[in-house]
Amino acid sequence: FAVVDLIRAKRDGTPLNDDQIRWLIRAYTDGAVAEEQMSALAMAIFFNGLTPAELATWTRAMIDTGERMDFSGLSRPTADKHSTGGVGDKITLPLAPLVAACGVAVPQLSGRGLGHTGGTLDKLEAIGGWRASLSNAELFAQLEDVGAVISAAGAGLAPADKKLYALRDVTGTVESIPLIASSIMSKKIAEGTGALVLDVKVGSGAFMKDEASARELASTMVELGRAAGVNTVALLTDMATPLGRSVGNALEVAESVEVLAGGGPADVVELTLALAREMLAAAGVAADPEHALASGAAMDVWRSMISAQGGDPDAALPRARETEQVRADRDGVVTGLDALGVGVAAWRLGAGRTRKEDPVQAGAGIEIHARPGDRVAAGDPVLTLHTDTPERFAPALADLSGAIAIGDAAPHPRPVVIDRI
Ligand code: URA
Repeated sequence: FAVVDLIRAKRDGTPLNDDQIRWLIRAYTDGAVAEEQMSALAMAIFFNGLTPAELATWTRAMIDTGERMDFSGLSRPTADKHSTGGVGDKITLPLAPLVAACGVAVPQLSGRGLGHTGGTLDKLEAIGGWRASLSNAELFAQLEDVGAVISAAGAGLAPADKKLYALRDVTGTVESIPLIASSIMSKKIAEGTGALVLDVKVGSGAFMKDEASARELASTMVELGRAAGVNTVALLTDMATPLGRSVGNALEVAESVEVLAGGGPADVVELTLALAREMLAAAGVAADPEHALASGAAMDVWRSMISAQGGDPDAALPRARETEQVRADRDGVVTGLDALGVGVAAWRLGAGRTRKEDPVQAGAGIEIHARPGDRVAAGDPVLTLHTDTPERFAPALADLSGAIAIGDAAPHPRPVVIDRI
């Protein structure tokens, strides 16, 4: 095929056939299709979308560029969770050991943060000695012995997506429903999980700012998963406000450990339990996650999981060198705390990175003392900002201007879980 003909076809709204798509993805992965050509095609897809048939073939072609893992030899069924990304979203940390404590193996291949959303691996690396990279043999052994693994996806999984995602990131073509759906689902299907629960975020701190697009993304991914034989469900969950009371790497690990110890913020506990119930049901296991949390069984798996990857679950977590408080400017009730503002500020303080190769600060981030619905008096602390680099307080405070709303009447409580798809 001549690539330029395929680009013109997609530009003019003509669907590509299966052979054309398979050839294109293969040739791009091998370097025979140039970055500028794929970039033009990604923009054509951004504007014209993909038909369901094109999307299915596109996803399958991305999977076929790499290895497919197979967990059918394990003694337990497998289930995984994927979040489309949010602020304060540490749910994977308590969830993976909780579900494992209920008898389902959790192969959680995770990523790092880019931009204002955090990355699970960055959070766990706040624990001294913890190792994100495991060989496939180590991953299988840990899944069998401990039941839960949170690790980096190896280079062998959907290599087409690694290349394409990096290209989309710098060409303004991330925010396309078929491109996001095929990117996420190619990795999850190649990973070989038997069941998959998608946490599709909606709100200012999410990719999808409005409910209609979040619903469309959720149902597109659920269809791709089911068509590939993965038992897939999606929850639509709120990301207008950060989850819990901490944003940042070590701060979120500490909050996750509180949840595993039977405490923690109500919204984090509620979402962890809701996702655990969905994962257990999708894997066909009848168990009560609330009991596994209360009995300490989930905490036991957490400790084994961290130790198995070289971390010390009892080590003190790093703290940032400097803190600064943001205080209420009047008496009243917090009516809004904007997820995007808080996420960008935490990123600016050093919790996230601008370029893939940047380091993150383990201790940087934001503690939230007052959430929507909480009553405050003028001068009460609403947020504590943490960083090793105090020159970042001023830009972080600028990101937060307008992020905190205080009014007279309590806001209508927002549900954490908006819908199930
Ligand atoms: N996460 C992914 O893995 N891919 C996307 O395209 C967007 C979010």
